[in-house]
Amino acid sequence: MSVTLSVIKADIGGYVGHSSSHPLILEKAEASLKKAKQGGTLIDYHVTRCGDDLQLIMTHNLGEDSEKIHKLAWDTFLECTQVARTLKLHGVGQDLLADSFSGNVKGMGPGVAEMQIEERAAETILIFMADKTASGAWNLPLYKIFADPFNTIGLVIAANMHSGFAFEIHDVKEHTKVILNSPEEIYDMLIFLGAPSRYCVKAVYHRESKSIAAVSSTQRLALIAGRYVGKDDPVCIVRCQGEFPAVGEVLEPFATPHIVEGWMRGSHHGPLMPVAVNQSNPSRFDGPPRVICAGFQLAGGKLIGPRDMFDDPAFDEARRQANEMAYYLRRHGPFEPHRLPLEEMEYTTMPQVMKKLTGRFSKI
Ligand code: F6R
Ligand code: MG
Ligand code: MG
Repeated sequence: MSVTLSVIKADIGGYVGHSSSHPLILEKAEASLKKAKQGGTLIDYHVTRCGDDLQLIMTHNLGEDSEKIHKLAWDTFLECTQVARTLKLHGVGQDLLADSFSGNVKGMGPGVAEMQIEERAAETILIFMADKTASGAWNLPLYKIFADPFNTIGLVIAANMHSGFAFEIHDVKEHTKVILNSPEEIYDMLIFLGAPSRYCVKAVYHRESKSIAAVSSTQRLALIAGRYVGKDDPVCIVRCQGEFPAVGEVLEPFATPHIVEGWMRGSHHGPLMPVAVNQSNPSRFDGPPRVICAGFQLAGGKLIGPRDMFDDPAFDEARRQANEMAYYLRRHGPFEPHRLPLEEMEYTTMPQVMKKLTGRFSKI
């Protein structure tokens, strides 16, 4: 059976500040998607949030880029924005960059990850959602999951994974893409993946079956809007088990918090802390950045779950390490590498400061 899984997300208002989401927003979204399920547009849905980002997880038969599904998400965000406005939440409608819907939410602000799949006998899906970071945050974990035998032993000892995976890499500045094959092209691949503010893994495919293994959102809000509108706070869908990495192999990279961009004012590096959904409330210095993971089994398109995958004491040590890294980086205050390089900061006063100091710079 063919089914499409769409994850569409937006920050339509934070509670309190940018730290979390108000329960009434989730209720509103729930009501909107329930109606769409009753009306037959959706097979199933799950509404959740990561920090201040509202996440609509939907299954349906309409394929990727369906106008009907994108409009449903857009209208749901608008309804929730109304609630956010009444509650005077912070940054109301922050990610809705267009005035009206024009066929597809891509490029309009919300983040989108979709995959149309042939549902397997057991279809295990993990959905990662992050707050206070950008799409490139998935580069390192996706590389480890699908290309690193020190992380994924299946690449070595499972016959159905031994041929490796193909990575579709997007240049988010030039809007170009390239597909590179692991393992033989990993050295070429890493020159791009190691620069996550510019190059992002959009999708991963099984080399033999050509099946889609993972897909992420690669929007860059700042590039869409041409001004600061917050970090993308990306999502990523990963299929697991069988010819794909096991659930434990997919979760394993998050046991080591890696440093990502997007903390405080979208202008700082910080550790990506894996947490349970109810702990995705980035408060300390508006962070540190968080990642949650919802696990599902699909049954005829029905979302059996979620299991809150980071709600596991085995990730306590990663959280402790992330806190230690957070303390260490915070001690750098306004200095790089805690603060992002000049061209990557979402907030800057550089033009004003330079203007004020015109005439005071002299040749050396
Ligand atoms: C939001 C974020 C926050 C804000 C900061 C300032 O994703 O990362 O750190 O950038 O709280 O927010 P504004 O400009 O909305 O007052
Ligand atoms: Mg926000
Ligand atoms: Mg956010």
